[in-house]
Amino acid sequence: MKEIVRWPLYAANWKMYKTSSEAEAFMQEFLPLLGDHDNEVVICPAATLLAVVAQAATGSCVVVGAQNMHWQTEGAFTGELSAAMLKDAGASYCIVGHSERRQLFHEQAADVAKKAQAALAAELTPIICLGETLEQRESGQTLQVLHDDLQASLAGIAPTVQVVIAYEPVWAIGTGQVATPQDAEEACAHIRASLREIWGELADAVRILYGGSVKPGNIEALMACPNVDGALVGGASLNAESFAAIANCE
Ligand code: PGA
Repeated sequence: MKEIVRWPLYAANWKMYKTSSEAEAFMQEFLPLLGDHDNEVVICPAATLLAVVAQAATGSCVVVGAQNMHWQTEGAFTGELSAAMLKDAGASYCIVGHSERRQLFHEQAADVAKKAQAALAAELTPIICLGETLEQRESGQTLQVLHDDLQASLAGIAPTVQVVIAYEPVWAIGTGQVATPQDAEEACAHIRASLREIWGELADAVRILYGGSVKPGNIEALMACPNVDGALVGGASLNAESFAAIANCE
């Protein structure tokens, strides 16, 4: 048991996978596999599936999150979705600043901060992602990068436990190369210490997830780390059995 109770949180990031019938089939298989525990389970499907998954999750402990959002409340932003729209479709969480968005769609930390602010204003809990690249790790910049990115991604946000931070080393995402528990703990402890510098004591109540090649076989060792409070799971969350094995880890 950790000193401060931070309930484990397991978030599935489905990325650009699954149609509505596939999402329904997943939920039908997944829900009965969930154990009787207080873990929080969030499924982040494509925006087109938010209402489908929210509907299928009714009456269960599973809630729904989006994968991205725009920071404006409305306007002429073709193709974008506001926090209020995502909430309307059933979301209560939203991933912001995923490394795929930062790398492939050129999102900057300042954009991430604006998205997190807008999410909070609409009562969506932002899951703010950050993590170093392989190059940054190999040149010894990991801790500095995490500190700076955290600070920039939280710019203008008042201290709140309604945010979740996800430590996702870029080199571990979708590669099968999971961080060792020691590396995950070092990074997450450093993120918490940086958060304490910015937000004070409240940092101890904020949940920090690990993400990057999480599988049923490595989740227990990761969750044994004092500063790892859950996981953001990509590939292994697409299969009901494997995501249930992860989400049942207490
Ligand atoms: P992965 O993805 O579990 O497939 O490595 C994690 C993520 O991108 O959030």
